[in-house]
Amino acid sequence: MSDPRVVIDLDLPGATISRHLYGHFAEHLGRCIYGGFFVGEDSEIPNEGGIRLDVVDALRELGIPNLRWPGGCFADEYHWRDGVGPRAERPRMVNSHWGDVVEDNSFGTHEFLHLCELLGADPYVNGNVGSGTVREMSDWIEYLTRADDSPMAALRRANGRDEPWRVPFFGIGNEAWGCGGNMRAEAYADLARQYATYVRDHGDNRVYRIAAGANVDDYAWTDALMRALGCVSCGDGDVGPFQAMSLHYYTMSGEWQAKGSATDFTSEEWYRTLSRAFRIEELLTRHSTVMDRYDPARRVGLVLDEWGTWWDVEPGTNPGFLYQQNTMRDALVASVHFDAFHRHADRLVMANIAQTVNVLQAMLLTDPDTGALVKTPTFHVFAMNRGHHDARHLDAHVVGAETMTADGRELPLLSASASTTGNTALVSLSNLDEAADRSVVLDLRGRAVAGFEARILTGATTAAHNTPDAPDAVAPVAHAGVRAHERGLVVELPAHAYVTVELTLGA
Ligand code: AHR
Repeated sequence: MSDPRVVIDLDLPGATISRHLYGHFAEHLGRCIYGGFFVGEDSEIPNEGGIRLDVVDALRELGIPNLRWPGGCFADEYHWRDGVGPRAERPRMVNSHWGDVVEDNSFGTHEFLHLCELLGADPYVNGNVGSGTVREMSDWIEYLTRADDSPMAALRRANGRDEPWRVPFFGIGNEAWGCGGNMRAEAYADLARQYATYVRDHGDNRVYRIAAGANVDDYAWTDALMRALGCVSCGDGDVGPFQAMSLHYYTMSGEWQAKGSATDFTSEEWYRTLSRAFRIEELLTRHSTVMDRYDPARRVGLVLDEWGTWWDVEPGTNPGFLYQQNTMRDALVASVHFDAFHRHADRLVMANIAQTVNVLQAMLLTDPDTGALVKTPTFHVFAMNRGHHDARHLDAHVVGAETMTADGRELPLLSASASTTGNTALVSLSNLDEAADRSVVLDLRGRAVAGFEARILTGATTAAHNTPDAPDAVAPVAHAGVRAHERGLVVELPAHAYVTVELTLGA
């Protein structure tokens, strides 16, 4: 059997791959905020205003484009006024979704916006529809973004911040079909219109309002939200009270009650997981198709603001804290998602992996005792893909790749995508075969290739992962397995590996 080919027309760039497809999510959940991002000013861990500087530095390496906060389910029980003003005076609350722990509100609005400034990331603030009021949401955006002496701007100043912040993204509740209020689609759609109306543009701050969208394959939910927006593509004006809607999709190898171990999995679970990761392609296609019926010009955005793997928690950790390890399997779940994101860049405007530190498919894990910071295999996929940020998508046709049936779907064992900035192109290649190495021909057309450089991420086993004792068990290195071929290049792809090839383009 001949080697599979990836055919790329280097001279036919498509939609821009927004850097916001590489966005993040930080919830008041387990050790994501407390211990992850925020250790308090008295910590021995180097910090600025209580924010861990090692975490900031690591995320800056990724060019983190945005950060969603404060939830998740937590968003719909969060009352922002409890998190401003002197810390010692802030009221406490029960975090009923996540471990039933008492939240002291020491990380609130000012701390979050400070974190975004340190990261150089756009804030994506998620408002409370489930248990909050229209007035509360309206006041929050005024507090955040208004410059004059309005009541909320004055309150912000009294709390120590003179200048308003820029807040480009605002969520109108979260999972309204579940933890965000257990609503029916039509009832929420009306509320989304109402709440979004009062999320005003103050001064020159322009808010992109994101309605709480569907879970997985609930196309009826997307349909109801699109219907609620009415005729969105008829004129050049605003699309409606909200400009986008979200989608949530998590990958697990088991089922909700027993999701599977992060590190101890069988061959069958490996392929089932990757097959479920591939399902994102179908979900993006079908939700987009529903949206196209109302909005063929694609002016309403789709925002996958929660995605990633969800495993059983690590043994001995709090079940409500969702702390899990992260292996080469997670890395390839991420790379498969990114390939699909790139293909859907004309409708998918943002995506946020859940969650950045210490929760679910994290970039970073911190040791609760020593504070040691570890970069996960998923972190490295984000880093290797940085060249796709704001680049133009190039179709990458995979021809002749082996497939297998897993979880009732056809799973190709090779995933690929590509983009170009004009003078360069970046090709991403994932070998999903747990055991077999492969050679892949890059059939490069339309432009000459003047040079190339490749990197590889793999591990000794499919379950390889990083720990404080072995922080670089899975880390990218230069890849020598690329050579010229009559059609372009041939790339050696070891089993369970992720490779990026950066091309320097000639005429
Ligand atoms: O990311 C963890 C939780 O998953 C979020 O709080 C919620 O929105 C989703 O169900």
